[in-house]
Amino acid sequence: MEPILLFAIAIITIYITHWVYSWRNPKCNGKLPPGSMGIPLLGETLQFFSPFTSNDFSPFIKHRMERYGSIFRTSLVGRPVVVSTDQEFNNFIFQQEGKLFEFWYMDTFTEVMWNKKSVPSLQGYIHKYIRSLILNLTGPQNLKEKLLSEMDQATMKQLQSWSTQHANVDLKEAVATMVLNLVSKKLISYDEEKCSKKLRESFADIMGSLISFPLKIPGTPYYNGLQGRKKAITLIRNILYQRRTSPPKHHGDFLDLMLEEMKKDNTILTEDLIVSLIFALIFAFYETISVSITLTMKFLTDHPSVVEELTKEHEMILQKRENKNSRITWEEYKSMTFTTMVINESLRLGNPIPLILRKTMADVHINGYTIPAGWAVMICPPVTHLDPTKFADPLTFNPWRWKGTESNPGKNFMVFGGGARFCVGAEFAKLQITIFLHHLVTKYRWKVIKGGDILREPNVKFPNGFQVQFLEKHK
Ligand code: HEM
Ligand SMILES: *[C@@H]1O[C@H](CO)[C@@H](O)[C@H](O)[C@H]1NC(C)=O
Ligand SMILES: *[C@@H]1O[C@H](CO)[C@@H](O)[C@H](O)[C@H]1NC(C)=O
Repeated sequence: MEPILLFAIAIITIYITHWVYSWRNPKCNGKLPPGSMGIPLLGETLQFFSPFTSNDFSPFIKHRMERYGSIFRTSLVGRPVVVSTDQEFNNFIFQQEGKLFEFWYMDTFTEVMWNKKSVPSLQGYIHKYIRSLILNLTGPQNLKEKLLSEMDQATMKQLQSWSTQHANVDLKEAVATMVLNLVSKKLISYDEEKCSKKLRESFADIMGSLISFPLKIPGTPYYNGLQGRKKAITLIRNILYQRRTSPPKHHGDFLDLMLEEMKKDNTILTEDLIVSLIFALIFAFYETISVSITLTMKFLTDHPSVVEELTKEHEMILQKRENKNSRITWEEYKSMTFTTMVINESLRLGNPIPLILRKTMADVHINGYTIPAGWAVMICPPVTHLDPTKFADPLTFNPWRWKGTESNPGKNFMVFGGGARFCVGAEFAKLQITIFLHHLVTKYRWKVIKGGDILREPNVKFPNGFQVQFLEKHK
């Protein structure tokens, strides 16, 4: 062989060996948390996303906790990640928002959910301002004054139509559509029902792409997600454009509010930002509530005694009403104690959002280890929610565990996150789930036709759907 070729092979071998070595042993000004970085590039991505069917938390996490302890390192979708299953450290992360840790869901997430140009708006005072704008829609005041009655009407109508059609309803899809119909009107006065399900189609591909390898090749989840985003963004952008170019008219929706804000001096809002925000919000509404209601119905189906108690609570509310045809009032809503217990329990066991991600802004020291600046940190709420020292007999669906104030879970309950990033849609979601349950147990019985299996990857999937038939109760 030519000496020059041998030399080249030697160089390449040394280079690759060095690269693999530094992949396995990332640079750190201290001691890294224990763990394995897996194989080059792929890391432990495949193991992390491998599906499991139990309600318990991911075997990936469980095995590594046993081996390495409550904080360990790994590598996912090409990124070094430290996983935290330590509740004290989780709370520290929430408190240090914007100081040691920043909001960061991998670059693919940012590109599908947001747009690169608007990334700074996810942080700092702009973040606070945008939160306040969203709360104009999802905060208690608007829920009480407007949304309660609109949700009530829409949910009642929807359940009625399902029951009269005797159709097999694929619950997650059907609820997602119901929520989408309501919120697309509130956000952009868009009538999804009349516009042949355009938004819904574009959302179908997005979920799978949020945390994926950034491969822009047709067929990859990332590529499909970007295509879905493009379609939805075009639709929203057109509505915004029409509104800005037609004579002023009051729509009373979220877009009106944003356009008003945009007229102010020193506004930070741009058309791009508004479109991105509306897109992200529609997605948040669409996905989270449908998964939560489906999980709740699944748990209820398996626990008739809970349905019985729930029915009692809601029948009682109807009996107390002076006018039998009146609508749910805010006071009635606030009195539905057992229902809140059911919802808490269903979210605790169901864990619709199974991971929360951040990026370190500086080296972070924890338990004698150092997490280098720029690494991802992952909080795993299910580990805490299913910890027997925090919730006795954790895998059992038992709403009664929430009875009384002594059981207040405090910082051990993170279904809606914590700190400065606490979910802005939490109250909206709880109201919608409650209204659904109210009409469900007072007027209907249901029969499971098919499906109901839960798969976690680790986000919740219903691989064969959850087909339900709603039947009107005979009184
Ligand atoms: C049961 C349903 C829901 C669950 C379990 C849920 C869960 C969460 C969690 C865990 C976070 C924290 C994320 C983090 O810290 O990185 C969060 C944040 C957020 N949620 Fe929700 N969510 C739900 C419903 C909704 C709805 C209906 C909306 C619609 C507006 C929404 C909008 C948001 C937004 C905008 C944030 C980011 C807040 C910020 O960064 O300040 N969520 N949610
Ligand atoms: C939302 O903003 C509009 C316009 O600024 C205001 O009139 C309305 O009172 C606000 N609503 C809530 C619930 O904050
Ligand atoms: C449900 O969880 C929330 C949030 O931790 C808590 O404040 C509330 O008291 C719980 N509800 C019940 C009925 O226990």
